Amino acid sequence: MSDSTYTSAIDMRYLASESSGIATKTEQLFIVQEQERKRIASELHDGIGQTLSMLKFGLEDTRRLLAENSIDDAEVLLQLLDNKLDDAINEVRQITMDLRPSILDDLGILATISWLLREFQQIYQTIKVEKWIGLQEADIPHILKTPIYRIIQEAVHNIAKHAQTTRMSIHLDRYNDTIELVIKDYGCGFDTRQAEARNDSLQGYGLTSMRDRALLTGGNCQIDSQPGQGTLIQVRWPLHTPLPIRASTTPPVKQYLPG
Ligand SMILES: Nc1ncnc2c1ncn2[C@@H]1O[C@H](COP(=O)(O)OP(=O)(O)OP(=O)(O)O)[C@@H](O)[C@H]1O
Ligand SMILES: [Mg+2]
Repeated sequence: MSDSTYTSAIDMRYLASESSGIATKTEQLFIVQEQERKRIASELHDGIGQTLSMLKFGLEDTRRLLAENSIDDAEVLLQLLDNKLDDAINEVRQITMDLRPSILDDLGILATISWLLREFQQIYQTIKVEKWIGLQEADIPHILKTPIYRIIQEAVHNIAKHAQTTRMSIHLDRYNDTIELVIKDYGCGFDTRQAEARNDSLQGYGLTSMRDRALLTGGNCQIDSQPGQGTLIQVRWPLHTPLPIRASTTPPVKQYLPG
């Protein structure tokens, strides 16, 4: 990413002002949660709800065609319904990704990231996903696990929705007293100033929610992008207690998911 990209970046780092105490933070968190619920409700209503209604009508039509002995027409319709069912399965995957998956509690953030990316890969097979994990589960403070998941989730959502790319990467690493999450895509990029203005008018809330999540947990989030230059999201959380330097017995895991 060029220097000029860097200068046009939205610098998401800002310090909480004197007035923004616990009440403001709680309020921010509440707004973010409400927005998520709204999005899931609309995905359920507009997506899976409509697909299921369509499948029901389609099955009734197939029954009618079979009763009329129009076997060929019934088969064509069944094929169509089969494809729609695949769409519905993908929609359920998408909605599950939007909810907080139970494996976050059961298996931890690293397994959850792998799961999320595998699911993403199943849905978006044309995007090659590269994953680099340079730390271990115990390196990540509990309080950061959900925000890390949510930020990755929104970033990959945006990549699927806006980036028009065939390649993206996710890095999660630690540098002594900092945990760093980097999500990069090689897609169409966007004008960060325009997006910032849009976010001011609350039209899109994904970038804002990433920033808020980082901020609410003591981190900072920087988004670099420019039309035609891809997008780089970098989140850093300083750790209060520096982590012990680990002997390199476990090499970082770099993985290319089949795409
Ligand atoms: N990875 C990306 N590649 C290209 N454009 C992006 C990318 N991420 C965000 N954008 C642009 O920035 C805008 C703002 O993103 P943001 O996530 O805030 O909102 P949204 O995705 O449009 O809506 P929401 O997240 O609320 O569903 C997007 O509409 C899109 O134009
Ligand atoms: Mg978004």
